[in-house]
Amino acid sequence: MIELEAALAANLADAHPDVQRVLIDTLSVMAQACARIGEIASQGMLAQAHGWAGTHNSQGEQQKRLDLLADDCMRDALTACPHVAGWASEELENAQASPHHGQTGPLLVVYDPLDGSSNIEANISIGTIFSILPHRYRGANPGDADFMQPGHQQVAAGYVLYGPATLMVLTCRRGVLVFTLDKRAGMESARWVLTQDQVSIPIATREFAINASNQRFWEKPIQRYIAECVAGENGPRMKDFNMRWVASMVAEVHRIMTRGGVFLYPRDTREPIKPGRLRLMYEAAPMALLVQEAGGRAVNGTSELLDLIPDVLHQKVPVILGSKDEIDRIVNYHADPHENVSWQLFKTRSLFVQPQA
Ligand code: F6P
Ligand code: MN
Repeated sequence: MIELEAALAANLADAHPDVQRVLIDTLSVMAQACARIGEIASQGMLAQAHGWAGTHNSQGEQQKRLDLLADDCMRDALTACPHVAGWASEELENAQASPHHGQTGPLLVVYDPLDGSSNIEANISIGTIFSILPHRYRGANPGDADFMQPGHQQVAAGYVLYGPATLMVLTCRRGVLVFTLDKRAGMESARWVLTQDQVSIPIATREFAINASNQRFWEKPIQRYIAECVAGENGPRMKDFNMRWVASMVAEVHRIMTRGGVFLYPRDTREPIKPGRLRLMYEAAPMALLVQEAGGRAVNGTSELLDLIPDVLHQKVPVILGSKDEIDRIVNYHADPHENVSWQLFKTRSLFVQPQA
């Protein structure tokens, strides 16, 4: 069995030894923090991990107890890591400089400590998402502006899925590795072991994931794409599609990593000033790097997610990612100035009929 550090050393064999050391140490520290989050999550009500905390984050969202417990685990781990100059979290309004390593650490970390928190009490899979960026201006504590880097600058990204098994899926820009938390000898001696080397997302798929309750708010290219999938064998795609929606992005992306598929949280007209629901820096960008490293594609409809430069820390973006052939098709629908769909064709499907103006 190959453990995390050995697997990362092999994966990073072509990197400068200093880069190797810094990344392996940092990822190990974060992996330990996530093992701890998984342990708390698995204890559920026994660890007082269910329910609302009675507080709100800076984006006005109510926080769950587990959001805060997970954030504490990550923050404690990053504070102790000499390579990390600062971090930004979904649960913090502003980026925070490391109290001890703010001026010296070569890395910045951005994270969503607990993704899919609406699923906590239902005991459905949840996760943690993280992105590691270079800290370019050393000698000064990092502030929000230092984090505003496009996703293609990430040196590593990953997620941990707290499901029936606890999995960590990582990229250091040399493909995608999957680790499983081996707790068979007890939690005290739990270790991450490599269980899949080089994930590859099939380029074609017949499965999509979208919150269909928002259908009336979608823009035309998305209406067209989904209507064509739902029309199945009798529609223009001439094949049947399957649909899934877990409401935990980590679980949706992991399903795509294992068997292909498309995940869409598109821009919609509910709140025009908020382009989408998911956050660029700690949801969209790290997932985009992972998906791209596995041979898939990740866009906002017209541009690659990895090319977007954030304006603010908690910026929201439309997210469309997964099997490459389908994402190419969706980008083409967005680019087509005459995009239209013969809604008459699909009128019989009640969920997906064209919204009345
Ligand atoms: O973090 C945001 C998130 O919980 C994602 O994990 C998930 O994909 C999405 O929101 C679920 O959104 P909705 O509540 O609209 O189904
Ligand atoms: Mn999230």
